[in-house]
Amino acid sequence: MPVFKERVFSGVQPTGNLHLGNYLGAIVKFVALQEKYDCLYCVVDMHAITVWQDPAELKRTTREVTAAYIASGIDPKKNIIFNQSQVAEHAELAWVLNCVARLGWLNRMTQFKEKAGKDRENVSVGLFAYPNLMAADILAYRATHVPVGEDQKQHLELARDIAQKFNNDYAESIRANGFGETFFPLPEPLISGPATRVMSLRDGTKKMSKSDSSDYSRINLTDDADTIAQKFRKAKTDPHPLPSGVKELESRPEAENLVGIYAALSGKTAADVLKDFGGAQFSRFKEALTELSVEKLGPVGAEMKRIVQDAAYIDSVLKDGSARARAIASETMKAVKDIVGFVRV
Ligand code: TYM
Repeated sequence: MPVFKERVFSGVQPTGNLHLGNYLGAIVKFVALQEKYDCLYCVVDMHAITVWQDPAELKRTTREVTAAYIASGIDPKKNIIFNQSQVAEHAELAWVLNCVARLGWLNRMTQFKEKAGKDRENVSVGLFAYPNLMAADILAYRATHVPVGEDQKQHLELARDIAQKFNNDYAESIRANGFGETFFPLPEPLISGPATRVMSLRDGTKKMSKSDSSDYSRINLTDDADTIAQKFRKAKTDPHPLPSGVKELESRPEAENLVGIYAALSGKTAADVLKDFGGAQFSRFKEALTELSVEKLGPVGAEMKRIVQDAAYIDSVLKDGSARARAIASETMKAVKDIVGFVRV
Protein backbone atom coordinates (compact mmCIF):
# COMPACT_ATOMS: atom_id res chain seq x y z
CA MET A 1 0.00 0.00 0.00
CA PRO A 2 1.56 3.32 -0.99
CA VAL A 3 1.71 6.15 1.52
CA PHE A 4 -0.97 8.74 0.82
CA LYS A 5 -0.85 12.30 2.05
CA GLU A 6 -2.90 12.35 5.24
CA ARG A 7 -6.07 14.35 4.74
CA VAL A 8 -9.33 14.62 6.66
CA PHE A 9 -12.73 14.96 4.98
CA SER A 10 -16.17 15.09 6.51
CA GLY A 11 -19.58 16.60 5.90
CA VAL A 12 -22.84 17.60 7.51
CA GLN A 13 -26.21 17.84 5.77
CA PRO A 14 -27.95 21.21 5.83
CA THR A 15 -31.32 19.78 6.80
CA GLY A 16 -33.16 20.92 9.92
CA ASN A 17 -31.56 21.91 13.18
CA LEU A 18 -28.06 20.89 14.13
CA HIS A 19 -28.23 19.01 17.41
CA LEU A 20 -26.05 17.70 20.20
CA GLY A 21 -25.48 14.43 18.29
CA ASN A 22 -24.03 16.26 15.29
CA TYR A 23 -21.97 18.42 17.60
CA LEU A 24 -20.49 15.71 19.85
CA GLY A 25 -20.40 12.93 17.26
CA ALA A 26 -18.84 15.00 14.51
CA ILE A 27 -18.17 18.73 14.81
CA VAL A 28 -16.18 18.60 18.06
CA LYS A 29 -13.94 16.01 16.39
CA PHE A 30 -13.54 18.23 13.31
CA VAL A 31 -12.26 21.02 15.55
CA ALA A 32 -9.71 18.77 17.27
CA LEU A 33 -8.38 17.28 14.01
CA GLN A 34 -7.47 20.64 12.49
CA GLU A 35 -4.44 20.77 14.80
CA LYS A 36 -2.87 17.73 13.18
CA TYR A 37 -4.24 17.39 9.65
CA ASP A 38 -5.19 19.23 6.49
CA CYS A 39 -8.98 19.14 6.70
CA LEU A 40 -11.91 19.70 4.38
CA TYR A 41 -15.31 20.24 5.98
CA CYS A 42 -18.21 20.21 3.59
CA VAL A 43 -21.82 21.33 3.83
CA VAL A 44 -23.38 18.57 1.75
CA ASP A 45 -26.24 20.37 0.05
CA MET A 46 -26.43 17.78 -2.76
CA HIS A 47 -27.06 15.07 -0.20
CA ALA A 48 -29.82 17.18 1.33
CA ILE A 49 -31.94 17.17 -1.85
CA THR A 50 -32.20 13.38 -1.88
CA VAL A 51 -35.30 14.31 0.10
CA TRP A 52 -37.22 17.38 -1.11
CA GLN A 53 -36.04 20.65 0.43
CA ASP A 54 -37.64 24.03 0.27
CA PRO A 55 -35.14 26.10 -1.80
CA ALA A 56 -35.13 29.18 0.43
CA GLU A 57 -34.79 26.98 3.50
CA LEU A 58 -31.90 25.04 1.93
CA LYS A 59 -29.98 28.27 1.41
CA ARG A 60 -30.66 29.30 5.00
CA THR A 61 -29.57 25.98 6.49
CA THR A 62 -26.48 25.79 4.26
CA ARG A 63 -25.34 29.12 5.70
CA GLU A 64 -26.35 28.02 9.19
CA VAL A 65 -24.20 24.86 9.09
CA THR A 66 -21.31 26.95 7.77
CA ALA A 67 -21.82 29.33 10.70
CA ALA A 68 -21.90 26.36 13.10
CA TYR A 69 -18.56 25.10 11.77
CA ILE A 70 -16.95 28.49 12.33
CA ALA A 71 -18.68 29.13 15.68
CA SER A 72 -17.48 25.74 16.96
CA GLY A 73 -13.89 26.74 16.28
CA ILE A 74 -13.03 25.47 12.80
CA ASP A 75 -10.67 27.99 11.27
CA PRO A 76 -11.78 28.65 7.65
CA LYS A 77 -8.31 29.89 6.67
CA LYS A 78 -6.44 26.88 7.97
CA ASN A 79 -9.05 24.38 6.72
CA ILE A 80 -11.30 24.23 3.70
CA ILE A 81 -14.97 24.94 4.44
CA PHE A 82 -17.24 24.73 1.39
CA ASN A 83 -20.58 23.57 0.07
CA GLN A 84 -20.66 20.47 -2.05
CA SER A 85 -22.69 21.78 -5.00
CA GLN A 86 -19.99 24.33 -5.81
CA VAL A 87 -17.44 21.67 -6.69
CA ALA A 88 -18.82 19.83 -9.70
CA GLU A 89 -16.25 17.05 -9.34
CA HIS A 90 -18.33 15.49 -6.56
CA ALA A 91 -21.16 14.73 -8.99
CA GLU A 92 -18.74 13.82 -11.76
CA LEU A 93 -16.84 11.30 -9.67
CA ALA A 94 -20.08 9.98 -8.19
CA TRP A 95 -21.13 8.90 -11.69
CA VAL A 96 -17.95 6.90 -12.18
CA LEU A 97 -18.43 5.33 -8.75
CA ASN A 98 -22.06 4.52 -9.60
CA CYS A 99 -20.53 2.30 -12.25
CA VAL A 100 -18.09 0.71 -9.79
CA ALA A 101 -20.42 0.04 -6.83
CA ARG A 102 -22.73 -2.97 -7.08
CA LEU A 103 -26.47 -2.84 -6.65
CA GLY A 104 -26.27 -5.59 -4.04
CA TRP A 105 -23.93 -3.48 -1.91
CA LEU A 106 -26.36 -0.55 -1.85
CA ASN A 107 -29.26 -2.89 -1.15
CA ARG A 108 -27.63 -3.72 2.16
CA MET A 109 -27.51 -0.12 3.43
CA THR A 110 -29.56 0.02 6.62
CA GLN A 111 -29.97 3.78 6.54
CA PHE A 112 -31.68 3.57 3.15
CA LYS A 113 -33.99 0.85 4.42
CA GLU A 114 -34.88 2.97 7.46
CA LYS A 115 -35.41 6.16 5.47
CA ALA A 116 -37.32 4.55 2.64
CA GLY A 117 -39.45 2.43 4.96
CA LYS A 118 -42.43 0.85 3.25
CA ASP A 119 -42.46 3.51 0.56
CA ARG A 120 -39.45 2.14 -1.31
CA GLU A 121 -40.91 2.58 -4.79
CA ASN A 122 -41.56 6.22 -4.16
CA VAL A 123 -38.27 7.57 -2.82
CA SER A 124 -35.77 9.35 -5.06
CA VAL A 125 -33.08 7.45 -6.95
CA GLY A 126 -30.71 9.90 -5.26
CA LEU A 127 -31.60 8.54 -1.83
CA PHE A 128 -30.61 5.05 -2.97
CA ALA A 129 -27.38 6.17 -4.69
CA TYR A 130 -26.49 8.53 -1.81
CA PRO A 131 -23.65 6.36 -0.40
CA ASN A 132 -21.89 6.50 -3.78
CA LEU A 133 -21.98 10.29 -3.68
CA MET A 134 -20.62 10.11 -0.14
CA ALA A 135 -17.76 7.92 -1.38
CA ALA A 136 -17.12 10.47 -4.14
CA ASP A 137 -17.00 13.29 -1.57
CA ILE A 138 -14.20 11.55 0.26
CA LEU A 139 -12.32 10.07 -2.69
CA ALA A 140 -12.35 13.31 -4.74
CA TYR A 141 -9.72 14.48 -2.24
CA ARG A 142 -8.17 11.05 -1.75
CA ALA A 143 -8.88 11.68 1.94
CA THR A 144 -7.38 9.20 4.41
CA HIS A 145 -9.38 9.96 7.58
CA VAL A 146 -13.11 10.56 8.03
CA PRO A 147 -14.52 11.62 11.42
CA VAL A 148 -18.19 10.62 11.72
CA GLY A 149 -20.76 9.37 14.20
CA GLU A 150 -21.52 5.68 14.53
CA ASP A 151 -24.51 5.89 12.15
CA GLN A 152 -22.20 6.55 9.18
CA LYS A 153 -19.99 3.52 9.76
CA GLN A 154 -21.67 1.34 7.15
CA HIS A 155 -21.42 4.10 4.53
CA LEU A 156 -17.72 4.43 5.29
CA GLU A 157 -17.21 0.69 4.87
CA LEU A 158 -18.93 0.95 1.51
CA ALA A 159 -16.64 3.85 0.51
CA ARG A 160 -13.67 1.60 1.30
CA ASP A 161 -15.15 -1.23 -0.78
CA ILE A 162 -15.71 1.13 -3.70
CA ALA A 163 -12.15 2.50 -3.47
CA GLN A 164 -10.79 -1.03 -3.35
CA LYS A 165 -12.84 -2.19 -6.34
CA PHE A 166 -11.79 0.83 -8.40
CA ASN A 167 -8.14 0.10 -7.53
CA ASN A 168 -8.61 -3.55 -8.56
CA ASP A 169 -10.72 -3.01 -11.67
CA TYR A 170 -8.33 -0.42 -13.07
CA ALA A 171 -5.08 -1.76 -11.60
CA GLU A 172 -3.37 -2.03 -14.97
CA SER A 173 -4.43 1.42 -16.12
CA ILE A 174 -3.49 2.94 -12.75
CA ARG A 175 0.01 1.53 -13.22
CA ALA A 176 0.19 2.50 -16.90
CA ASN A 177 -0.74 6.08 -16.04
CA GLY A 178 2.08 6.31 -13.52
CA PHE A 179 0.06 6.20 -10.30
CA GLY A 180 1.74 3.14 -8.89
CA GLU A 181 -0.18 0.24 -7.38
CA THR A 182 -3.32 1.95 -6.04
CA PHE A 183 -5.00 5.22 -6.84
CA PHE A 184 -7.48 5.68 -3.98
CA PRO A 185 -6.57 5.28 -0.31
CA LEU A 186 -9.01 3.23 1.75
CA PRO A 187 -10.46 5.97 3.97
CA GLU A 188 -10.25 5.30 7.69
CA PRO A 189 -13.37 6.05 9.76
CA LEU A 190 -12.62 7.97 12.96
CA ILE A 191 -15.38 6.99 15.39
CA SER A 192 -14.36 7.26 19.02
CA GLY A 193 -15.17 8.69 22.43
CA PRO A 194 -18.27 8.55 24.63
CA ALA A 195 -20.72 10.22 22.21
CA THR A 196 -20.45 8.42 18.87
CA ARG A 197 -24.17 7.68 19.07
CA VAL A 198 -26.13 10.25 21.05
CA MET A 199 -29.64 8.98 21.67
CA SER A 200 -33.03 10.69 21.78
CA LEU A 201 -33.90 12.31 25.12
CA ARG A 202 -37.35 10.74 24.86
CA ASP A 203 -36.25 7.20 24.06
CA GLY A 204 -32.77 5.92 24.87
CA THR A 205 -32.99 3.24 22.18
CA LYS A 206 -33.52 5.72 19.33
CA LYS A 207 -30.85 7.94 17.77
CA MET A 208 -31.06 11.69 18.38
CA SER A 209 -32.08 12.97 14.98
CA LYS A 210 -33.00 16.11 13.07
CA SER A 211 -36.07 14.42 11.70
CA ASP A 212 -37.68 13.38 15.01
CA SER A 213 -41.07 15.10 15.20
CA SER A 214 -40.56 15.98 18.88
CA ASP A 215 -38.19 18.85 19.56
CA TYR A 216 -37.93 17.49 23.11
CA SER A 217 -36.00 14.53 21.73
CA ARG A 218 -32.94 16.65 21.01
CA ILE A 219 -30.87 19.61 22.18
CA ASN A 220 -30.38 22.00 19.28
CA LEU A 221 -27.20 24.05 19.03
CA THR A 222 -29.33 27.19 19.00
CA ASP A 223 -31.42 26.31 22.08
CA ASP A 224 -31.22 28.89 24.87
CA ALA A 225 -30.43 28.05 28.50
CA ASP A 226 -34.08 27.76 29.55
CA THR A 227 -34.91 25.42 26.69
CA ILE A 228 -31.90 23.23 27.45
CA ALA A 229 -32.90 23.04 31.12
CA GLN A 230 -36.49 22.19 30.24
CA LYS A 231 -35.49 19.47 27.77
CA PHE A 232 -33.14 17.77 30.22
CA ARG A 233 -35.72 18.06 32.99
CA LYS A 234 -38.25 16.28 30.79
CA ALA A 235 -35.74 13.75 29.45
CA LYS A 236 -36.83 10.16 29.99
CA THR A 237 -35.04 8.30 32.80
CA ASP A 238 -35.58 5.18 34.86
CA PRO A 239 -36.49 5.27 38.59
CA HIS A 240 -33.10 4.21 39.98
CA PRO A 241 -30.20 6.41 41.09
CA LEU A 242 -27.10 6.45 38.88
CA PRO A 243 -24.90 3.37 39.31
CA SER A 244 -21.26 3.60 40.34
CA GLY A 245 -19.93 1.44 37.49
CA VAL A 246 -20.16 1.60 33.69
CA LYS A 247 -21.18 -2.05 33.42
CA GLU A 248 -24.50 -1.35 35.14
CA LEU A 249 -25.35 1.26 32.50
CA GLU A 250 -25.65 -1.39 29.81
CA SER A 251 -29.26 -2.25 30.52
CA ARG A 252 -30.23 1.38 31.18
CA PRO A 253 -30.15 3.17 27.81
CA GLU A 254 -31.43 6.56 29.03
CA ALA A 255 -28.94 6.70 31.91
CA GLU A 256 -26.15 5.56 29.61
CA ASN A 257 -27.01 8.30 27.12
CA LEU A 258 -27.06 11.13 29.66
CA VAL A 259 -23.80 9.95 31.23
CA GLY A 260 -22.25 9.73 27.75
CA ILE A 261 -23.33 13.28 26.96
CA TYR A 262 -21.89 14.54 30.24
CA ALA A 263 -18.65 12.67 29.60
CA ALA A 264 -18.28 14.06 26.06
CA LEU A 265 -19.04 17.63 27.12
CA SER A 266 -16.62 17.51 30.04
CA GLY A 267 -13.87 15.59 28.23
CA LYS A 268 -14.03 12.81 30.84
CA THR A 269 -14.75 9.10 30.53
CA ALA A 270 -18.13 7.68 31.55
CA ALA A 271 -16.34 5.88 34.41
CA ASP A 272 -15.04 9.20 35.76
CA VAL A 273 -18.48 10.76 35.53
CA LEU A 274 -19.88 7.88 37.57
CA LYS A 275 -17.13 8.36 40.14
CA ASP A 276 -18.60 11.81 40.73
CA PHE A 277 -22.29 10.98 40.34
CA GLY A 278 -22.65 7.28 41.26
CA GLY A 279 -25.56 6.99 43.72
CA ALA A 280 -26.98 10.41 42.76
CA GLN A 281 -30.64 10.88 41.85
CA PHE A 282 -31.38 11.93 38.28
CA SER A 283 -32.71 15.29 39.44
CA ARG A 284 -29.27 16.27 40.74
CA PHE A 285 -27.45 14.80 37.75
CA LYS A 286 -29.75 16.55 35.28
CA GLU A 287 -29.09 19.89 36.98
CA ALA A 288 -25.33 19.37 36.65
CA LEU A 289 -25.78 18.25 33.03
CA THR A 290 -27.84 21.34 32.24
CA GLU A 291 -25.23 23.60 33.79
CA LEU A 292 -22.43 21.95 31.82
CA SER A 293 -24.40 21.99 28.56
CA VAL A 294 -25.26 25.67 28.90
CA GLU A 295 -21.62 26.45 29.68
CA LYS A 296 -20.34 24.54 26.63
CA LEU A 297 -23.10 25.09 24.07
CA GLY A 298 -24.18 28.61 25.04
CA PRO A 299 -21.18 30.38 23.50
CA VAL A 300 -21.36 28.23 20.33
CA GLY A 301 -25.05 28.97 19.84
CA ALA A 302 -24.55 32.69 20.47
CA GLU A 303 -21.62 32.88 18.06
CA MET A 304 -23.61 30.93 15.46
CA LYS A 305 -26.49 33.39 15.71
CA ARG A 306 -24.05 36.28 15.33
CA ILE A 307 -22.26 34.84 12.29
CA VAL A 308 -25.49 33.85 10.56
CA GLN A 309 -26.47 37.54 10.40
CA ASP A 310 -23.56 38.16 8.06
CA ALA A 311 -24.48 36.23 4.92
CA ALA A 312 -21.83 38.08 2.87
CA TYR A 313 -19.09 36.83 5.19
CA ILE A 314 -20.41 33.26 5.12
CA ASP A 315 -20.62 33.30 1.34
CA SER A 316 -17.06 34.60 1.12
CA VAL A 317 -15.89 31.67 3.27
CA LEU A 318 -17.75 29.20 1.03
CA LYS A 319 -16.42 30.83 -2.13
CA ASP A 320 -12.83 30.72 -0.96
CA GLY A 321 -13.25 27.15 0.32
CA SER A 322 -14.88 25.97 -2.90
CA ALA A 323 -12.04 27.34 -5.01
CA ARG A 324 -9.47 25.58 -2.84
CA ALA A 325 -11.46 22.34 -2.82
CA ARG A 326 -11.90 22.48 -6.60
CA ALA A 327 -8.15 22.82 -7.10
CA ILE A 328 -7.64 19.44 -5.39
CA ALA A 329 -10.70 17.64 -6.76
CA SER A 330 -10.03 18.65 -10.37
CA GLU A 331 -6.59 17.02 -10.21
CA THR A 332 -8.17 13.79 -8.93
CA MET A 333 -10.83 13.92 -11.62
CA LYS A 334 -8.28 14.43 -14.40
CA ALA A 335 -6.44 11.36 -13.19
CA VAL A 336 -9.67 9.35 -12.91
CA LYS A 337 -10.54 10.25 -16.53
CA ASP A 338 -7.14 9.06 -17.69
CA ILE A 339 -7.42 5.86 -15.67
CA VAL A 340 -10.95 5.07 -16.85
CA GLY A 341 -10.09 5.82 -20.48
CA PHE A 342 -11.98 9.05 -21.19
CA VAL A 343 -10.26 11.08 -23.92
CA ARG A 344 -9.32 14.45 -22.48
CA VAL A 345 -9.27 17.11 -25.23
P1 TYM B 1 -25.57 13.95 8.95
O1 TYM B 1 -25.78 15.30 8.37
O2 TYM B 1 -26.76 13.09 9.20
O3 TYM B 1 -24.80 14.07 10.32
C1 TYM B 1 -23.60 14.82 10.43
C2 TYM B 1 -22.64 14.12 11.37
O4 TYM B 1 -23.25 13.98 12.66
C3 TYM B 1 -23.21 12.62 13.07
N1 TYM B 1 -24.41 12.31 13.85
C4 TYM B 1 -24.39 11.81 15.09
N2 TYM B 1 -23.36 11.46 15.90
C5 TYM B 1 -23.69 10.98 17.13
N3 TYM B 1 -24.97 10.83 17.56
C6 TYM B 1 -26.02 11.16 16.78
N4 TYM B 1 -27.26 11.04 17.22
C7 TYM B 1 -25.75 11.68 15.48
N5 TYM B 1 -26.53 12.10 14.46
C8 TYM B 1 -25.70 12.49 13.48
C9 TYM B 1 -23.17 11.81 11.78
O5 TYM B 1 -22.63 10.53 11.98
C10 TYM B 1 -22.29 12.69 10.91
O6 TYM B 1 -20.93 12.44 11.17
N6 TYM B 1 -23.93 11.20 5.09
C11 TYM B 1 -23.54 12.13 6.12
C12 TYM B 1 -22.89 13.38 5.57
C13 TYM B 1 -21.80 13.14 4.59
C14 TYM B 1 -20.48 12.74 4.88
C15 TYM B 1 -19.81 12.66 3.61
C16 TYM B 1 -19.79 12.43 6.04
C17 TYM B 1 -21.91 13.29 3.25
N7 TYM B 1 -20.71 13.03 2.65
C18 TYM B 1 -18.49 12.29 3.53
C19 TYM B 1 -18.46 12.05 5.95
C20 TYM B 1 -17.82 11.97 4.70
C21 TYM B 1 -24.78 12.55 6.90
O7 TYM B 1 -25.89 12.45 6.44
O8 TYM B 1 -24.49 13.13 8.10
